[in-house]
Amino acid sequence: MHCLACIHCRQTYSPDTILYTCPACGHLLAVDYDLDAVHISRSDLFSRPLSVWRYRELLPVTVPPVTLSEGGTPLYHLKRIGESIGLPHLYAKHEGMNPTGSFKDRGMTVGVSMAIQLDMKMVACASTGNTSASLAAYAAAAGIPAVVLLPAGKVALGKVAQALMHGARVLSVAGNFDRTLEMVQELCISHGIYLLNSVNPYRLEGQKTIGYEVIDQLGVVPDRLVLPVGNAGNISAVFKGLSEWRDLGWIDSLPMMTGIQAEGSAPIVRAIHENLTEVIPEAHPETVATAIRIGAPVNAEKALIAIRKTGGCAASVSDDQILSMQRDLARVEGIGVEPASAASVAGIRQLVEMGAIDSDERIVCVVTGHLLKDPQTVISQCNPPEEIDATLPALLSALRL
Ligand code: F0G
Repeated sequence: MHCLACIHCRQTYSPDTILYTCPACGHLLAVDYDLDAVHISRSDLFSRPLSVWRYRELLPVTVPPVTLSEGGTPLYHLKRIGESIGLPHLYAKHEGMNPTGSFKDRGMTVGVSMAIQLDMKMVACASTGNTSASLAAYAAAAGIPAVVLLPAGKVALGKVAQALMHGARVLSVAGNFDRTLEMVQELCISHGIYLLNSVNPYRLEGQKTIGYEVIDQLGVVPDRLVLPVGNAGNISAVFKGLSEWRDLGWIDSLPMMTGIQAEGSAPIVRAIHENLTEVIPEAHPETVATAIRIGAPVNAEKALIAIRKTGGCAASVSDDQILSMQRDLARVEGIGVEPASAASVAGIRQLVEMGAIDSDERIVCVVTGHLLKDPQTVISQCNPPEEIDATLPALLSALRL
């Protein structure tokens, strides 16, 4: 059994009320479980396939889930990049290998299942792209309509293509992501539409399974978990999930939660470095990593707790550092990710150079979305294909053979 609980005033609410923030104090909500009622042990899970639903006893869904087989993503040892920066135990969890190419699918399998459980007839979100692609696909799978609001001109092509093809109503808003999120929140509250941004505590429940899978794959708790941060939902979700495992006695330590933002939109990094209790929104966020081009992270309160309570840290990286790591992951390791995802590994490279990280740490970077999400940014960094005549000599000459 679970309920909704305010993370600030601790007021609790019935699990079937449609709430996104605490009516009493306005702060964020989280899903609270009665952990004494969890009557399985960690090893009971090992015989189940690696997936979001392996961990169903710690998820709020009671109806048959709306699923496209999410989770169970690969964990790669970054041998060469690790060696080049002096970290022999560096790993990447490739969330781009989910059904729609990002970690959002973990949130949406749970979030859209909850929409059905709560008898909601329509779903909506604002998005820098991936959330909209995922919501559109899961709404299609559930057979319910979806509305998505995108900041005009700032969403990578692959993501728009997905949202359109999966049949969502796609609206391009003349404003940035932060404004679209305000608009969709107003729409959902006034019109009884189910909001599936990360302010929805049920969606984050699905995303917490990233941390569970990492430990199940690695066999131990990593010293550090590194995530790119935009709206700050994912880092908060993973921390919450692992805290539950610790409270169950399934693990006895938590990784240092480490958040990486792009230099042009780094309000969480600033709050951590300046020891602020609240983030100061960035009015004009800008970065090539459009997925994390967010100035007012809605889950900031949760993320600051996650980073501070685990002795983690936050760092920002430039667009050049992000793109350079995107190329290294692709060319040195064979791992194709979108720019925002490369930010986590770029951040680690920078933290090592600053001497902020021990070389014997076991570090897992979550790479959040697939390379094909943003083909334009990829093409703009690469030389175009060489055009040749359709003859063998032309081919040999081009290859200098
Ligand atoms: N990486 C990718 C590829 C993302 O799409 C996002 C967020 C993040 C990282 C950051 O995660 O917001 O939980 O801190 N994308 C959202 C979207 C905002 O609309 O697709 P976060």
